[in-house]
Formats: sequence, structure tokens, C-alpha cells
Amino acid sequence: MTYNLLQGKKGIVFGALDEHSIAWQAARKIKEHGGNFVLTNTPIAFRLGTIYQLAEECDAKVIPADATSIDDLKNLFHKATEILGGKIDFILHSIGMSPNVRKQMSYGNLNYEWFLKTLDVSALSFHKILQTAEQLDVMNEWGSIVALSYIAAQRTFPDYSDMAEAKAMLESIARSYGYRFAKHKKVRVNTISQSPTLTTAGSGVPGFDKFYTYAQRMSPLGNATAEDCANYIVLMFSDLSRMVTMQNLMHDGGFSSVGITEEIIEAL
Ligand SMILES: NC(=O)c1ccc[n+]([C@@H]2O[C@H](COP(=O)([O-])OP(=O)(O)OC[C@H]3O[C@@H](n4cnc5c(N)ncnc54)[C@H](O)[C@@H]3O)[C@@H](O)[C@H]2O)c1
Repeated sequence: MTYNLLQGKKGIVFGALDEHSIAWQAARKIKEHGGNFVLTNTPIAFRLGTIYQLAEECDAKVIPADATSIDDLKNLFHKATEILGGKIDFILHSIGMSPNVRKQMSYGNLNYEWFLKTLDVSALSFHKILQTAEQLDVMNEWGSIVALSYIAAQRTFPDYSDMAEAKAMLESIARSYGYRFAKHKKVRVNTISQSPTLTTAGSGVPGFDKFYTYAQRMSPLGNATAEDCANYIVLMFSDLSRMVTMQNLMHDGGFSSVGITEEIIEAL
């Protein structure tokens, strides 16, 4: 169902790698709702993924950028505003990566260089995007910026490792920068805390399939899919959510409010 909620709006989508990516589904939905955007990802993701296929489908240009590099971000914002013909209305940060998770280091044996890399890629990159966007004055008033989080920011999930700290920082940045951007530019900043989702980043977490099934059984509505998340992102970019800012928004089929379910009791 399409209501053209984003007609006339322009933005940037970070993090579409392949069709399983939440950002990929978000890009499709944004297009369906009339939004225009530039796609971006790291140069290596361009080689690994199939982003040009999405770009063709959405009639979008692609600009490579490592979201941890201020120079890349400046170049991205300059080119994106040129291509889109002016200031932008929305940004999706759909970025996450932990070398410690990838290499399955236990939480008691973390590599601290990698820990810093996790924080830089998965959390600080959000601050870098916000700060660069503000300094270059690329956002229109009443614009909306969203990053994707996970409930491991609040509760412990052992195999999520240092990504838990990254997500806690990400959510904190949304609050702190959300305050600043609202005061300066009436731009809102939020995080969406999404259910486990079958993507490249998701399935990199050890035991992900069990994790996924557990969440499915603990969520009265079931796990939210990437497509469901894409719909929520559209809502957050639309004018219907113009007074929502500095929030971590649970998008998890009810998981975060449940103590136990009949399905889990039966399974034990
Ligand atoms: N999959 C899940 O279960 C789940 C649940 C909750 C939240 N999330 C979050 O959703 C977001 C998107 O992940 P996904 O599940 O769609 O997986 P994904 O692997 O498809 O997306 C992660 C993206 O981050 C990009 N990326 C990595 N390093 C980067 C850098 N330095 N600069 C720019 N981009 C970089 C990757 O190229 C990739 O496109 C992440 O923040 C993830 O933590 C995922």
C-alpha cells in the first residue's frame, strides 16, 4: 500500500549491501512513497554486494563513502546535494560491523583495536554523519535522521559482544545530537530498535538462528521483518512523525515488553 508519504523529499541511504539488507528494503519503500535519494556504502561493499541493481531499480545514484571518514562524508554530502538539487530531508544510518564478532572473540578476550573499530564504524560514524551534515548545513528544517539499533543496548545477549556497547553509544548519540539538531534546525534524530533480522550483519552473530527463533517465540506479533522495518523508516521520514525526536523506538513485535510466553514455557 502506498500513500506517497515522501513525495518531494530527498535524502541519503547508507548501508544497502544486498537484498537482505534492511537499507535495501528501506530504499525500495522510500521510492514507492515518492522519495528520491542517493545510495552510499563502502567501496568494498560495492564490490561484494549488488548495490547497482538497487540503484537501477530506484533510479538512484551511488556515491562510495566510508562512514568513518570525514573527508568521504564531506564529498558525499557535496555530491548528494548537487545530484538531488539542494538540501535534503532524510538520512538513514544502517551501518554495523564488529571485527570481534566476526572473528568470534569471547567477551572476556576482546581485541581492543577491534573494539575501537566496532565503536567507530557502528556508533561514532553516526555522530560523524550528524556533525558533518550540520556543519555543511545540508538538512532542510523538519528533516529526519534515523539509525538502526538493537535491544542488546539495554539487555545482555552474550554473543552480541562489543556491538552492545556500540548500540548503547548509538542510542545516546541520537539523544544528544537530537537535542542539538532540534534546537538549531528543527531536525529530528531517532534510533529504531529492530527485531533480529536475517541479513549479512545479523547472521554474522554466532548462534543467530537460535536467537532469531527465541525472539520469534518471545514476541506476541512475531519478529518484525526487514520490510516491516522499512515501513517504519518511511513513517519516521514522513511528516506524520514530525514531533518525534531523541527516541529509541522499539520495533520488535512486542519482544521488549514480554517476560515470558506460552511458546517458551512449552519449549522448556
Ligand atoms: N540484522 C539484524 O538482526 C539487526 C537487528 C537490529 C539492528 N540491526 C542493525 O541494522 C543495521 C543494518 O544491518 P543489516 O542487518 O541490514 O545488515 P547488512 O550487513 O546488510 O548492513 C550493514 C551495512 O553496514 C555497511 N558498513 C560497514 N562498515 C561501513 C563503513 N565503514 N561505512 C559505511 N558503511 C559500512 C556494510 O557495507 C553493510 O551494507 C545495522 O546497524 C545493524 O546493527 C540489525
